[in-house]
Amino acid sequence: MENHIEIEKRDGIIIVRLNRPSKLNALNRSVISDLGEIVHQLNFEDEYKAMIITGSGDKAFAAGADISEFTDYPTSEAMKMAQKGHDIFREIETSKKPVIAAVNGFALGGGCELAMACHLRIASQNARFGQPEATLGLIPGYGGTQRMIQLIGKAKAMEVLLTGDMIAAEDAEILGLVNKVVEKEDLMEECFAMLKRILSKGPLAIEKTIEAVNAYFEEGVDGFAKEVELFGECFGTEDFKEGTTAFLEKRKPQFKGL
Ligand code: COA
Repeated sequence: MENHIEIEKRDGIIIVRLNRPSKLNALNRSVISDLGEIVHQLNFEDEYKAMIITGSGDKAFAAGADISEFTDYPTSEAMKMAQKGHDIFREIETSKKPVIAAVNGFALGGGCELAMACHLRIASQNARFGQPEATLGLIPGYGGTQRMIQLIGKAKAMEVLLTGDMIAAEDAEILGLVNKVVEKEDLMEECFAMLKRILSKGPLAIEKTIEAVNAYFEEGVDGFAKEVELFGECFGTEDFKEGTTAFLEKRKPQFKGL
């Protein structure tokens, strides 16, 4: 069977390469399922600290869901497909370990939605973002209508979603859709460098920060109250004691994630 996802593990970081370059890494069923399994592995296996998702080849991160797969779907099947994507992308978004999208080309439709579900997005200069679903008589089905608003605000999200226009990397940075734009050849190293800075912090603090930030967008959750709760929890951790003691002793902290 064709290997649609390539996995590399380096220094506790899982590097996932969407691997259908001849189809611009379009997300077919098998890619989505494999992605679900690897995200699960990240979340449940202690040896993994973070994940980077990128695309194989030099043209695309992912040019969307695989259009060839869903032409014959009845409504019920289409809803199942969307729900599966939602569940997996949500697991990425709520992962306690940082996930970065290294966007190395087209990130369209489901590709853009996948990038938006990651905690951070670093893009190469040739990256192009967009939600062109309306061109196909569709709307985004992997969370795009919601996360686009969360990231760039309603007015610009409406424009991106209604026009289906592609957004150049530099414009995506101005909109706040990506964190940083770098030279193509520096993309992976920039992601590793960003993760290195994050992973030098207290792992429980990173986990709780992600949870607190996500709480802002959760219906029925008071993000401020969640922050108070998580802040308090930090005081019960060894990491907090180590972090503050190390500061006072003018040395580097040795966090254990406890
Ligand atoms: N699903 C399935 N196949 C896709 C795809 C997708 N989302 N995006 C690209 N491909 C395939 C093309 O069909 C083509 O396959 P082929 O060589 O067997 O014909 C191959 O990938 C290369 O794409 P191509 O269109 O020839 O490249 P291009 O450089 O001319 O154009 C894009 C690039 C991204 C502008 C164009 O591929 C495109 O518009 N893709 C669809 C984007 C989209 O609508 N995504 C949302 C899906 S819900």
